[in-house]
Amino acid sequence: MNKNEAKAEIERLSKELNRHNHLYYVESNPEISDYDFDMMLKQLQELEEKFPEFASDLSPTKRVGGDITKKFESVVHKYAMLSLSNSYSKDEIEEWVVRAKKLVEDDLEYVCELKYDGVAIGIQYVDGKLVQAVTRGDGTQGENVTSNVKTIRTIPLQLTGDYPQDFEIRGEIFFPLKNFLALNEKRREEGEQEFANPRNTASGTLKMQDSKVVAERGLDCYLYGIYGASNRADGHFELVNKAADWGFKVPPHKERFIEKTNSVEGVMEFINYWDEKRKELPFEIDGVVIKVNNYDQQEILGFTAKSPRWAIAYKFKAERVETILEEVTYQVGRTGAITPVANLQPVQLGGTTVKRASLHNQDQIEKLDLHLGDSVYVEKGGEIIPKIVGVNFDARTQTSEVVTFINECPECNTPLIRREGEAQHYCPNELGCPPQVKGKIEHFISRKAMNIDGLGAETVDALVEVGLIENYADLYTLTFEKVVSLERMADKSANNLIAGIEASKAIPFERVLFGLGIRFVGETVAKKLAKAFKNIDELAKADFDTLIAVDEIGDKIAMSIQAFFWEDRNKELVARLKEYGLQMEIEEQEGTSNKFEGSSFVVSGVFENFSRNELKALIESNGGKNVGSISSKTSYVVAGDKMGPSKLQKANDLGIRILSEAEFIEMLNA
Ligand code: IVH
Repeated sequence: MNKNEAKAEIERLSKELNRHNHLYYVESNPEISDYDFDMMLKQLQELEEKFPEFASDLSPTKRVGGDITKKFESVVHKYAMLSLSNSYSKDEIEEWVVRAKKLVEDDLEYVCELKYDGVAIGIQYVDGKLVQAVTRGDGTQGENVTSNVKTIRTIPLQLTGDYPQDFEIRGEIFFPLKNFLALNEKRREEGEQEFANPRNTASGTLKMQDSKVVAERGLDCYLYGIYGASNRADGHFELVNKAADWGFKVPPHKERFIEKTNSVEGVMEFINYWDEKRKELPFEIDGVVIKVNNYDQQEILGFTAKSPRWAIAYKFKAERVETILEEVTYQVGRTGAITPVANLQPVQLGGTTVKRASLHNQDQIEKLDLHLGDSVYVEKGGEIIPKIVGVNFDARTQTSEVVTFINECPECNTPLIRREGEAQHYCPNELGCPPQVKGKIEHFISRKAMNIDGLGAETVDALVEVGLIENYADLYTLTFEKVVSLERMADKSANNLIAGIEASKAIPFERVLFGLGIRFVGETVAKKLAKAFKNIDELAKADFDTLIAVDEIGDKIAMSIQAFFWEDRNKELVARLKEYGLQMEIEEQEGTSNKFEGSSFVVSGVFENFSRNELKALIESNGGKNVGSISSKTSYVVAGDKMGPSKLQKANDLGIRILSEAEFIEMLNA
């Protein structure tokens, strides 16, 4: 393929992929299979790698993220990003209507929309291209989070149809509940503390430095306000619908109410309907927004210092009940993390009976000033996890006992520790604390790790209790005779179990690595590590710099890996697993080259066609090694713009070959 053909093909594929992306994510009406989509994307990726000069900043391949933003630059909003005044009753809405009608002579028309519980975003498009996305900040200026926003697939990178030349669209970025729950499940697996609610997590995610992580989390966005294009329609409702034609995901749940037809009744019906139905939505809302539709009327109504007079929010009351705190108990996780749990007098909340609520940690208990027997307020945090939000102090008895956090593990009585800067208490008795011992084995045999047939949590408990196993390596010393001696274990089950254990020896290395239960090493990280280090010995001896040079491995994970392999007992466990014949290295994959085998690279500066992470991935998939800093052992420095002068000097002093971006590409394609 020559250059011109490549350029045309890249353009064609980009356009097609954008179209299919929109069909899939915005319209939920795909025309092609996921597989075909992935193949098309791969084709584009390959072409862009070969002809980086044609890879656009807005290419569909950029959806996976990769750009790192060290500090988000501050941007002044062209139109102030105001908030809404809140209302909580029909009376308040009627008062708002009366005030509006004093200022506007003609009939008013209202639009009701859902009030999405997320983070506000303003996105600027010029000539149909996404150029900048800014958070609300203090309303006057916000942070430039463009590279993170580009990973959200329902936000178009390139518009279609008859869009305005230069305008801003605003909306709400939110965490779909399904993705939020999946993220928390993953965190549980990795032994990390779970996130408390989708909104704060969406906000935190949007401000992460690594856009690749943002891409993986699966945020979504509804766009509900257009600025700088009001000449395109008479009213908000019409313009937002037009924006759908330009490729935006706009609120589907909205309705218009015309003044003469008893509009406040209509508004209230909309509110009451959604107050009930919100439980069924796949995302969280915290109310309804009522807007005057007509732009001329909006202009007459204008703004107060904080909010527009042409709109008002109706906030749903969080479902809240009062009940008695009977007891606080403590759970011990597989990593030894201690979670306090409030045991409540059973109470109905949002259609379910609530008996327990998580209290997160000691600080939380102290902040609430909990006493045993207190009458506490319980809310369904984001409709998912019930939480205690306060105490009815009037109902407290003088003699009630303060809830004090335990000092010793409830399972093994070992004194607890709390590391500096962390909120969670831990039981350090990894080898002797039953839930930790069992939890580690259960993790090892779980579906995504060794997936051992015929072995479940109950059998693990029984095996540990009778002393047949103390750790996961002991599983491989089990025999039919030993297992069948367990109570209620039939011959057939015992056979199955032994066969399942035997079969697990063929499970690929990355899953064994995941099964080891190293803190912060989840499924994805295990895959990355397996790919980068190829076998357990290389991983075990990797130093900190080598670890963090791997894509997506940060300080925290690197330290945790090192801590794991520093422990003699872990080294021994790993050595035993190896001896029993488990897979401790990856099978070589085809398709990647080894042209950089034996060479180590330092990538520094900013590049035109790649993000730093993309360059590093290319080096790795071609057999090279990425290192963090320049030393006499470095083979090449790939130098982009803005590479520090002292680094350059050091490379020169050591006589290391410095490659420009173009030279690197040449070497890669050679
Ligand atoms: S219109 C001048 N429409 O709620 C502000 N806002 O509490 C016009 N929000 O800052 C905002 N859903 O972040 C509007 N359908 C919706 C909304 C919505 C959620 C957020 C928005 C705003 C906040 C105010």
